[in-house]
Amino acid sequence: MQYPPIMKGFPELLHGGDYNPEQWLRWKDEIWPKDMELAKAAGINTLSVGIFSWAVLEPREGEYDFSFLDEVMDLLAKNGRKAVLATPSGAKPQWMAEKYPEVLRVDAERRRALYGTRHNHCLSSPVYREKVRAINTALAERYKDHPALGLWHVSNEYGGECHCPLCQARFHEWLKEKYGTIERLNESWWNSFWSHLYPSFEAIESPSPIGECDNPALTLNWRRFTSHQFRDFYEWEIAPLKAITPDVPCTANLMAAYPGIDYFDLGRALDVSSWDNYPQWTGDSRDARVLMDAAFNHDLMRGVGGQKPFMMMESSPSAVNWQPVNRLRQPGVLMLQGLQAIAHGSDSVQYFQFRKGRGGAEKFHGAVVDHVGTRETRVFREVAEVGQRLRQLKAVTGSAPESRIALIYDWENRWALDQAAFGHKNHQKYEETVRAHYRALKGLGHDVDLIDQTCGLEGYTAVIGPMTYLLRPGFAEHVQHFVAEGGVYVGTYISGWVDEDDKAFPGGWPGPLKEVFGLWDEETDTLDETQHNHFGWKGRTYQVDDYAALVHTRGAEVLALYDENFYRGYPVLTRNVYGKGKAYYIAARTGEDFLRDFYADLLSRCGLDPLVKGLPEGVDCASRAGDAGRFLFLMNGNPHAVTVCLPGGVRAEDGEAVCGLTELRPWEVLALRLNEGA
Ligand code: GLA
Ligand code: ZN
Repeated sequence: MQYPPIMKGFPELLHGGDYNPEQWLRWKDEIWPKDMELAKAAGINTLSVGIFSWAVLEPREGEYDFSFLDEVMDLLAKNGRKAVLATPSGAKPQWMAEKYPEVLRVDAERRRALYGTRHNHCLSSPVYREKVRAINTALAERYKDHPALGLWHVSNEYGGECHCPLCQARFHEWLKEKYGTIERLNESWWNSFWSHLYPSFEAIESPSPIGECDNPALTLNWRRFTSHQFRDFYEWEIAPLKAITPDVPCTANLMAAYPGIDYFDLGRALDVSSWDNYPQWTGDSRDARVLMDAAFNHDLMRGVGGQKPFMMMESSPSAVNWQPVNRLRQPGVLMLQGLQAIAHGSDSVQYFQFRKGRGGAEKFHGAVVDHVGTRETRVFREVAEVGQRLRQLKAVTGSAPESRIALIYDWENRWALDQAAFGHKNHQKYEETVRAHYRALKGLGHDVDLIDQTCGLEGYTAVIGPMTYLLRPGFAEHVQHFVAEGGVYVGTYISGWVDEDDKAFPGGWPGPLKEVFGLWDEETDTLDETQHNHFGWKGRTYQVDDYAALVHTRGAEVLALYDENFYRGYPVLTRNVYGKGKAYYIAARTGEDFLRDFYADLLSRCGLDPLVKGLPEGVDCASRAGDAGRFLFLMNGNPHAVTVCLPGGVRAEDGEAVCGLTELRPWEVLALRLNEGA
């Protein structure tokens, strides 16, 4: 599938990063032109500006001074670079906090913050909203026809929450809109429990350690509300941008599986999804796992953007400064980190940061240009190599992965499971479980789309929904329809337990999915780390950890049975024929060995061939397809060389034919083109 370039009229893979020229205002005549030279030398075609510039752009209330930005935008245009231009709401000027304390957040314990740090404004404050609207409007008016303007970078890493009176009032409005009457809310939240019936919407307080922290429906809805606030605020921010610069796409930089915002919801409001990628590279054998986790994050961020090309908006060119141990990147890891993003559908490799500042909290965070200020550094040379490789890979721009397999990761389900009190209290391992299924699928050499319960299932051959504890409205019907029409669906233990307000389904688990699975899941045993069960399947024995569900089939065929305990002989793996399709139920948590064997068998039955067969451990493999053809990327996350067996009819990006057994050096990336008709 071919998409237009992210920046209109700029069909390149973007390469660049956060640039803070305002920190160098006093030295601008020397530094800024040098920055342009360095950017050119590094093959950087894009710089993100204005992210934290509010205090310079509006030094006093209502007095704008765009002189620095005018000059920087002109400089970028003159040098043929594009600007990712930010709205400055990520950090507010001091005068605003002093004059209007309502813009400061209130925490869950009801303490109002003092001025400081960043990402800490109240999203409800009418004053804050007005200030943001005004400066966003002024920015859009000023640069609407500027040749450098390529993309709007809205705020920075939205996150956190605010419990101030203004937010409480908006929460009440949001609840009123959702439930209509307080009686309906009380019933839906099961509030007769512990005498928690609310007399009015106004009586509801957001969850707090000094107040209500034990009402799961309240907590769940507060998380929904907080997430909604960000989408609402984002829409507020882009309203003037859309009105004045309708052709310039907008994005907000996301943070992978950050728990606080339902990114699938926010993603629907973004023109392009973008995210900040900070893998904790270790420089040793653990990097193989780091690589697979980064792969998941990329696929998730592509998913929230609707599977279109996305952007890696930030990544570190060298050691960061906030991880427990901030290691240097091993030679080659920067290329791996950059091209992995491209492989998974990013049309950009952007860094935080272009030039290191001399002061402030991030002065020792990796940058393209270090304090030494020249191109004579190892990191700069590696960045320049990435730049060169991206130019060679230009034909990839706008292409996208085309996966027939979808894996479900759902924020609302995560919120419900994060707070769920049963079994392993407060540690249901939802995200870890989805990642384990992902690693099994990727380890087999398949492309995988990540979706949530609200995404369409059409077009997929196989859909996998691990631990869908909370069923969102309509999801069970979609699964039924998908399977009835010939799809293959895989579900697991702890599925279909509760509705959207975290109320248990009457009539047994997996609630409205019982029929499609052809079984009834009666109860679930919880095992501690010393306790296990086992089962045999296709001649091998597998271990059960953490959870073992006890199911009774109602039409499903039993494929494997528990070996031990009083539930020895109960089904642990089942398959149900439903309409034209099949639904599998994995009743226990297993290791990745089982998941891999199970998916290998299942996917080959579905006629889904892997991109590459027999992938070595720690090698990521992904593909993109577009008008220029199909591209295949192989990435070695290991600190040692591995041998891969390439499919026939591929050539490397330098045009050389490669086939058969090929060695990948430690952390090496192979970018290949699949020949037409191969
Ligand atoms: C985040 C922020 C950046 C910077 C980097 C440092 O991603 O968006 O402003 O603080 O982290 O790693
Ligand atoms: Zn607030």
